[in-house]
Amino acid sequence: MTVAFFQPLALTLDVHLDAADLRAALARDVRSGLGATRRSLPPTWFYDEHGSKLFEEITRLPEYYPTRAERVLLERHAGELAALTRSDTLVELGAGACEKTRVLLDALSALGTLRRYVPFDVSADFLEASATALGRQYEGLHVHAVVGDFHRHLGKIPGGGRRLIAFLGGTIGNLVPSQRRRFFSELRGTMAPCDHLLLGSDLVKDVARILAAYDDSKGVTGRFNRNLLHVVNRELDADFVPEHFAHVVRWDPLEQWIEMRLRSDRDQVVHVGALELTVPFSQDEELLTEISAKFTPRGVASELTRAGFVLDGQWGEDPGDFLLTLAHPASRC
Ligand code: AVJ
Repeated sequence: MTVAFFQPLALTLDVHLDAADLRAALARDVRSGLGATRRSLPPTWFYDEHGSKLFEEITRLPEYYPTRAERVLLERHAGELAALTRSDTLVELGAGACEKTRVLLDALSALGTLRRYVPFDVSADFLEASATALGRQYEGLHVHAVVGDFHRHLGKIPGGGRRLIAFLGGTIGNLVPSQRRRFFSELRGTMAPCDHLLLGSDLVKDVARILAAYDDSKGVTGRFNRNLLHVVNRELDADFVPEHFAHVVRWDPLEQWIEMRLRSDRDQVVHVGALELTVPFSQDEELLTEISAKFTPRGVASELTRAGFVLDGQWGEDPGDFLLTLAHPASRC
C-alpha cells in the first residue's frame, strides 16, 4: 500500500507490515520461543508504545552511555561523513523517533546534496508522526517512510540516487554472528555502487560499565525487560505476572555480549490464551529476552569486509566507548 499525502509536505508512506502481520509474527516467536527447552523471546517485541517510551528513558540514564557516545561522534563527524558520501538520500534503519537523524540531515543539507529521507521501522505510528515533523522542518525534503522488518523487507527500501544507509544505536548487536552475516550480505546485495552504509556499534570495554548500562539503579531497564511480558499478555491473551520475574543481566565473556533475561521467582504456570499454550516455569528458570553484542573496531571491519564491503573509515573516541563505521559496496562508484 502506498499513501501519497498532499504535495507541500512530499510525504510517502509504504506499509509492508500491518497490525495483523505483526501479531502473526509475535505468535510465531512466542510459540517457538516459549516452547523450547531453553526459553527465549526476541527483543523486537520490547518496542510497543510503552516500551519505546521506556527505551527513550534508558537513553537518558547516567549509566547508559551508548546513545550519548554515538551522538557525540555523529556531531563531531557528520560534516566529514556528508563530504565523503555526498549522499542525496538518508535511509535510516530502525528510525524510531528519528532523533539522531537530524545531525546527518543537517550535514547533508548544508552540503546541498540532500533530497530525500527514508525512515524505515516496524512501528507505523512512530514513523508517521516523526516523518511528518521532519518533512515540515526541511524544506523541499521528500520523506518516504517505509514500515517493514529488516529481516524481511530490506529489498523494499526505495533505491535510486546516492543513498546513505544508517543503522545506528548499536542495534546490530541484537543479532548473533550468523544473523549479522546474513543481514550484512543481504543489505550489501540491495546496495548500488554509490550507496554507503553507516553503522553504529557499541564497543567492548570494562565489564562493570557494560553491566551497569543494562542494570541501572533506577530499575528502568528492568521495567523495559518486563514490558515484553505485558506485550505478550495484551497481544496474545496471556497471563504472565511480570512482577514474578526478576530482571537478570549477564556478560558472556566468550561471545562478548550482554544477555538480558527474566528469571521466574517461583514455580508458576503461564497460559497464552490465543495460542492455547500452557508454559510451566520452575523457580529460577530463565527466559532470554535480548543479547547485545559488543565489538572491536577490527571485528566490525572484518564482518563488513567478509560481506563484500570496502571500508571508508571508522570513528571513535579514545578510549573507545562507541564506534561509527562507514563502508560502501566493493564495486566502483
Ligand atoms: C536498542 C538494541 C541498541 O542493546 O543497548 C537498551 C536496547 N536493551 N537497554 C541495546 C537496550 C536494554 C539497545 N539497542
